[in-house]
Amino acid sequence: MADTQPKGDAESMESVLHEERKFPPPPAFAAQAHVKSLDEYETLHKESVDNPEKFWAEQAADLHWFQKWDRVLEWDLPDAKWFVGAKTNLAYNCLDRQVEAGLGDRTAIIWEGEPTPGGQPEVRRISYKQLLDDVSRFANVLKDLGVKKGDVVTIYMPMVPELAVAMLACARIGAPHSIIFGGFSASAIRDRVEDGQSKIIITADGGWRRGKPVPLKENVDEALTMTDRVEKVVVLERCQNPVTMKEGRDHWWHECAADASADCPAEHMDAEDLLFILYTSGSTGKPKGIMHTTAGYMVYTATTAGITFDLKPATAQAESPDVYWCTADIGWITGHSYIIYGLLPNRVPTLMYEGAPDTPDKDRFWDIIERHKVTKFYTAPTAIRAFMKWGSEHIDKHDISSLQLLGTVGEPINPEAWMWYHQTIGNEKCPIVDTWWQTETGGHMLTPVPGATTTVPGSCTRPFFGIDAAVVNSEGDEMPTNAGGILVIRKPWPSMLRGIYGNRQRFIDTYWSKVEGYYTAGDGARKDQDGNFWIMGRIDDVIVVAGHNLGTMEVESALVSHPAVAEAAVVGFPHEIKGTGIASFVTLRGGVEGTDQLVEEIRDHVAHELGPISKPDLVRFTDALPKTRSGKIMRRLLRDIAAGREITQDMTTLEDVSILAKLQGQG
Ligand code: PRX
Repeated sequence: MADTQPKGDAESMESVLHEERKFPPPPAFAAQAHVKSLDEYETLHKESVDNPEKFWAEQAADLHWFQKWDRVLEWDLPDAKWFVGAKTNLAYNCLDRQVEAGLGDRTAIIWEGEPTPGGQPEVRRISYKQLLDDVSRFANVLKDLGVKKGDVVTIYMPMVPELAVAMLACARIGAPHSIIFGGFSASAIRDRVEDGQSKIIITADGGWRRGKPVPLKENVDEALTMTDRVEKVVVLERCQNPVTMKEGRDHWWHECAADASADCPAEHMDAEDLLFILYTSGSTGKPKGIMHTTAGYMVYTATTAGITFDLKPATAQAESPDVYWCTADIGWITGHSYIIYGLLPNRVPTLMYEGAPDTPDKDRFWDIIERHKVTKFYTAPTAIRAFMKWGSEHIDKHDISSLQLLGTVGEPINPEAWMWYHQTIGNEKCPIVDTWWQTETGGHMLTPVPGATTTVPGSCTRPFFGIDAAVVNSEGDEMPTNAGGILVIRKPWPSMLRGIYGNRQRFIDTYWSKVEGYYTAGDGARKDQDGNFWIMGRIDDVIVVAGHNLGTMEVESALVSHPAVAEAAVVGFPHEIKGTGIASFVTLRGGVEGTDQLVEEIRDHVAHELGPISKPDLVRFTDALPKTRSGKIMRRLLRDIAAGREITQDMTTLEDVSILAKLQGQG
């Protein structure tokens, strides 16, 4: 059903939130950081935007190239080619380069499984040399199964080291991978296999999730009843749950790898050869296969990881002083870029965790941080809000003083959640990097540089080096200070998407048609007097109330700043008098009861914080909000519920369908 709500436009989005708290980089952190002051950031940022080719050539020089580039950039809008003429290999830069530098014994991956057999955590530490051997062996397995350079390999695996092995093996032989998050169903596998024309799937019998195996192989089997494109399936044994193996099609990983040679020279890839496809659902329509290519993605993710997380490499003499942990799944772009590809070239141990944050108990993350002495921790606002709801007693049980830097990604972080993260997890000593980026951008676009940037709760602050970001109207003119508008990137950057697999027109329509000449991200934002960017929400979610255009982020943040509120989502709904009203869906902190009196208190609180225009007309309490499997609130579903409309939209990315049933039941 069509959305009958009047459409707002980001150009006149009004900002109602006022956040004044400021946190300069802790001096001790700044003193040891790669970028040590705001002056240094500003000088380097200006140089890098004025002359991106020089800046990116300098970053690229640290990596290994079989052949150097002829030109750094060829730009024919909307098509960018970076490091034109160069030959390289990303797996080589993740592994061989470290081994050749005498770091073969240093830790590449620290892995922790979900089960705790006999009360002991299941842990593996994998060195660069070991990982190189495993990757080379599996690369030979893929070749034996007929995979050639350019063939798309589908990967549907749990968060085990073999997932990293599989993706790096693909990169090694030049077979683009298409990784599907292990929480997706058979139909999602079928759609992606068909779209990517992939003839091979790598999977596992199962993956552990809250004490039970997720039946991955069974899901693949079901998907393969709906498509006959797939000829080979490789199955890793992980949970030993019963599976059916189809003769001739299905092969056990361990049997294939047993006799494979650990010698597999890395393919010399052209800079612009396809590295991977990753499907992103967007809010409507069929998933888009976002394409990333080899050299630009490699240089950009390695550079951003090193600077944003201020990583310090291992040397031939010693392990890295850092242990870095990103809690995302590798099935998302965050995992691609900031668990594997951006991390391994930086020579820092990257921690992978298979399970859930509350298994066996709600202190699992803090226990992991304590035992592995994690220094840099990267997670999502949805997780932070869950930790707040669970209460600080789970954190107090552990010594998490090894932490030096905290990161967040995926959604706007409400200032109160930011403050909680800063105080309770960061002990007021860790810079927070609120990184704004997308599957399409490949790497961080707007982010604090932790030794240089003064952070403000709720703002992702300033553009990364080489990034020319602006807030504009649909003519491309910059908006005045603090006025909401369309967030655009005005110049090409190395890890930008190269297209949507098999759909040129959709690529142009989605990203290059809203403001002429600029990449549009689909987010609304404002830029403040200090040059800090504030994401105000998706442009599609703008609420028009009495002629005012409101972004979702600010009203949600005001709701979350009420002490009883854990999480909130707001949407517009048809209102008899105003045309559109504001409906808010609210989860409460542990132990708080949702009374009529609390409804009034919360409404008044928002009016007090933001002014009467933003006062929600409806406050509805719920146990949980509908979210995508990557943790984003699905406001479009809430719009239908608030309007009392039947939901006819695609719900395949919804994490827990029962939440909707409950919300509708109340309606
Ligand atoms: O709306 C922005 C939001 O997530 C979108 C990108 O989603 P995805 O491609 O799934 O990638 C997520 C991981 C990079 C953006 O258009 N978003 C992401 N990070 C932030 C954010 N919104 C506000 N602040 C952020 N730090």
